[in-house]
Amino acid sequence: MNRETLKGSEQPHFRAMTEADLATILELEAGCHPDPWTMDMLQTSLQQGHHCRVMELDGVTMGHAVLQVVAGDAELLDLCIGAGFRGQGWGRLFLRQLITEASEAGASHLFLEVRASNEPAIQVYSGEGFHQVGRRPRYYVLPEGREDALVMARYIGDGSLAL
Ligand SMILES: CC(C)(COP(=O)(O)OP(=O)(O)OC[C@H]1O[C@@H](n2cnc3c(N)ncnc32)[C@H](O)[C@@H]1OP(=O)(O)O)[C@@H](O)C(=O)NCCC(=O)NCCS
Repeated sequence: MNRETLKGSEQPHFRAMTEADLATILELEAGCHPDPWTMDMLQTSLQQGHHCRVMELDGVTMGHAVLQVVAGDAELLDLCIGAGFRGQGWGRLFLRQLITEASEAGASHLFLEVRASNEPAIQVYSGEGFHQVGRRPRYYVLPEGREDALVMARYIGDGSLAL
């Protein structure tokens, strides 16, 4: 299902992920990452109290994200928009929601790691004020070999883009 088949014109809403979402989330994961999250990883994130969120419209799950907030810093561990919903601004909207949530939870910076070749994601993050602050060589173990991770970050303490 894609955006055109959804009824109504309302905006998506964001809610907490639950165990009942995990089968759907696993399907989304398989279409999102070459090294998708497993059921164990998702359950652990729920148990550890991470900010596990679902973006939904008309009862359809469009994407999900996992955010960790620890001691004044936040890390975006996962962000995924279903393949049929990409390129329509939903990833940016979800990211903005997560920035707001991290800021409200008391974080002053939001960090993330992204595969060096993941141009769509790098574009979304750069467009929302993230800057590259590091590089982890051969960080990702993928079916086709290893790939570097870019570490990106944004100051979110007072809404400033400065880092
Ligand atoms: C990365 C991802 C979340 C982006 O979500 P999306 O809904 O497609 O992105 P948006 O439509 O909100 O795009 C926002 C901006 O990102 C950029 N962008 C999005 N897709 C792009 C693409 N395929 N190529 C280049 N730039 C792209 C554009 O600058 C766009 O701005 P514009 O609309 O003004 O042109 C989505 O592609 C995804 O889930 N990918 C698989 C999982 C993943 O890689 N997650 C990130 C892991 S760190």
